[in-house]
Amino acid sequence: MKLLKMLQAMLSVLVILPVMATAALASSGGAPLPQQNWSFHGPFGQFDTAAMKRGAQVVAEVCLACHSVKYIKFDQLKQIGLTEVEVNAIAAAAGKNRKDAMLSSTDADAAKESFGVVPPDLSLMTKARKGYEDYLYGILTGYLKDEDKAAIDRALEDGTVSEAEIKELSVILSMDPHQPDKIRDAVQRIKNGDNFNKFFPGNFFAMPAPLAADGQVTYQDGTHSSVAQMSHDAVTFLAWAAEPTMMERKSAGIKVILYLVVLTVMFYAVKRRIWARIHH
Ligand code: HEC
Repeated sequence: MKLLKMLQAMLSVLVILPVMATAALASSGGAPLPQQNWSFHGPFGQFDTAAMKRGAQVVAEVCLACHSVKYIKFDQLKQIGLTEVEVNAIAAAAGKNRKDAMLSSTDADAAKESFGVVPPDLSLMTKARKGYEDYLYGILTGYLKDEDKAAIDRALEDGTVSEAEIKELSVILSMDPHQPDKIRDAVQRIKNGDNFNKFFPGNFFAMPAPLAADGQVTYQDGTHSSVAQMSHDAVTFLAWAAEPTMMERKSAGIKVILYLVVLTVMFYAVKRRIWARIHH
């Protein structure tokens, strides 16, 4: 009886834990995150090599202007399938040598001067924020589009933001329509040139849209580089950077489980044999 109770308690903990984790994620502020399909999620998930290569290009050409990915050396990009020639080219574009770590071309003091904060290192970023990969993707795609900015300009034209305009703006900004003062503030700040992002908690932050236009990066493999595509690829690369040994970890895990299954079957057979003798 006691054992049954204990099992029941353990089971309910197993059921409750994921629910608690989801609740914690949901409370992160900002609009609900876009749910993306990441090839490397789940026990059998694999990194998409082509996406990683494209992502390395986006990160090297765009993000390294401000951020570092300090735990990865350019040379390690060979692990995702880039050739030495390609690695040399990527390092050279960032003003570095292939033996160097992927450090930003802007030093921390200069960045602080321009942005008021030092752009954080991106090595472990996919693991460092609530929402993980979806959050990073959200940040990269969550800036206002040209038509959104036009709608804001229209709303501000006559100097007042009417009730109807509040409603429209609340949809565009993913903000609560019942807090019109917050929306009016936000609209003013956007007008003054502050960076608005739907998914950043608090909405305003120091990073100007890094991927602002389709075609900003010219992909070697001919893939169309829409903002969504570049964002998805950059995040795939950063997920690899955060855990370059993920594939080895998963394949080791699968082997261990297979081993345990085989062992369990063998032990069961042994148990049956032993008890068969005792029962007779
Ligand atoms: C022009 C400089 C610049 C570029 C280019 C840039 N960033 Fe940023 N980034 C910043 C700054 C500044 C911050 C700090 C913002 C803050 O905390 O207000 C930041 C913050 C971030 C954050 C942290 C957000 C958070 O929750 O704290 C992520 C993630 C990020 N950047 C990803 C990227 C990626 C990926 C790229 C390349 C596609 C990129 N950034 C390109 C300047 C830049």
